Amino acid sequence: MHESEIQRRRTFAIISHPDAGKTTLTEKLLLFGGAIQMAGTVKGRKAARHATSDWMKLEQQRGISVTSSVMQFPYKGYTVNLLDTPGHEDFSEDTYRTLTAVDSALMVIDCAKGVEARTIKLMEVCRLRDTPIFTFINKLDREGREPTELLDEVEDVLGIRCAPVTWPIGMGRALKGIYHLIEDRIYVYQEAEGGKRGRLGETRVIENLASNEAAEFLGSDIDNYRDEVELVRGASNAFDIEEYLRGELTPVFFGSAISNFGVRELLDAFVTHAPAPRPRMSESRNVEPTEPALTGFVFKIQANMDPQHRDRIAFMRICSGQFRKGEKLRHVRLGKDVKIPDALTFMAADRESAETAYAGDIIGLHNHGTINIGDTFTEGEQLIFTGVPSFAPEMFRRAVLKDPLRMKQLQKGLQQLCEEGATQLYRPLKNNDMILGAVGQLQFDVVAHRLKEEYGVDAMFEGIQVHTARWVYAKDAKKLEEFRRKAHDSLALDHGDALVYIAPTRVNLQLAEEKWPDIEFRATREHVL
Ligand code: G4P
Repeated sequence: MHESEIQRRRTFAIISHPDAGKTTLTEKLLLFGGAIQMAGTVKGRKAARHATSDWMKLEQQRGISVTSSVMQFPYKGYTVNLLDTPGHEDFSEDTYRTLTAVDSALMVIDCAKGVEARTIKLMEVCRLRDTPIFTFINKLDREGREPTELLDEVEDVLGIRCAPVTWPIGMGRALKGIYHLIEDRIYVYQEAEGGKRGRLGETRVIENLASNEAAEFLGSDIDNYRDEVELVRGASNAFDIEEYLRGELTPVFFGSAISNFGVRELLDAFVTHAPAPRPRMSESRNVEPTEPALTGFVFKIQANMDPQHRDRIAFMRICSGQFRKGEKLRHVRLGKDVKIPDALTFMAADRESAETAYAGDIIGLHNHGTINIGDTFTEGEQLIFTGVPSFAPEMFRRAVLKDPLRMKQLQKGLQQLCEEGATQLYRPLKNNDMILGAVGQLQFDVVAHRLKEEYGVDAMFEGIQVHTARWVYAKDAKKLEEFRRKAHDSLALDHGDALVYIAPTRVNLQLAEEKWPDIEFRATREHVL
């Protein structure tokens, strides 16, 4: 029972450059899963949230999606967990960590634009863990580039071999359908009528490219198209499951998310071939998903997801075992057992209270400030999952309060927002400053906006002479203590109270490293020891 639940889990994320169609495709996948009734709901949800949470305005103004969420839906007996990732590069850390929580990914490419900057970055991240990738080439209803040229670009730029599974018949105005190279079947494109775009109409299917029906359908193009398919078969890779699972080859599907075309074929192949939950590395051993005891790690924290509840949710990927409501779990870093009375699951857009969840699923834990990104939970085993790092930020600003009486709220707001991991808070040992570190300017804007909307605090962020921050470690506790005393004025605590060296310049950091050979200055933090 337990094992079959795991075998039917598919946990993945969509990676794409903004505007390639991730939101549209997500919506269509949910539609096929019966999780929503009408297309437009996901976008509508964006709008509804916008009404309740003002900081989303910022998101809309910039035309980006900075939040990410988890959606679970059933499809053909499978349970699919789709983890959304923010598109904007300033939130790449968040995306990076989300990608540590999936078993595979789906890459969406705009057929007119091909491989774009964010696609390249995200693929690099996927490659670190050899994540298996499905590819969907979208917007076939518009004029795009030659399909073979697109595949060549994916192969050359992304360094992954392509195995086309569906192949377009025409493009843009001339789009007639797609041909399924494995099934030997034509799926006929019917232009969606304006309002009916989102409905799941029946697609006309023509069996066998050699049939008379196919010849009739393609008319004078039939010979050319048959030749083209022969060429494609001859020149491209066949879909080899093992190579796909190793992350070396990607099956490629063509379609038009907005017209719901080619999406079902993609999803069918995806649930059939994408991997079920895979084993996870921990510091001490490999954890198999089929192990009976529950283990999991937190890859993301989000504050005030629902502004009306003002709660903070820690997203935990279950790596093994089964979660039952009301269960006690060991918070390994704190060495404490905590009762989890009200974990959340994420059925499509709605948050529901979780009764049971299995390896591969994501559950949301209410966080009252005790959970950090990267934390491991178990049924008692002293086990620590690795590979969910925090990165040293690249930009630093000092928080300046406009109304000094709101200090407490500012501290609380920054503390809670920084738990999310996109920005990091440093409190110097020598004074009461609050220094915020981020990888991009947008994050400071978002924090300032959210401080105002969610905590009623008017704050600004001003420039400060900081080059970088390094997490500080030493094997020898005495050496660390000495360092802490002597370098006191350059040290700060991060939101999890880990010790951080704040370097005003690159040279300063070099000098400190030379002077303190027993101290490690790390650019990433995996967890607080
Ligand atoms: P993203 O999440 O990757 O950023 O992309 P999103 O789905 O929001 O799509 C970006 C734009 O591309 C949207 O247009 C969307 O409608 C359009 N789009 C998505 N899939 C297709 C497709 O298959 N064919 C065509 N022709 N367009 C597609 P928009 O004008 O920005 O928004 P909207 O007003 O249409 O909602």
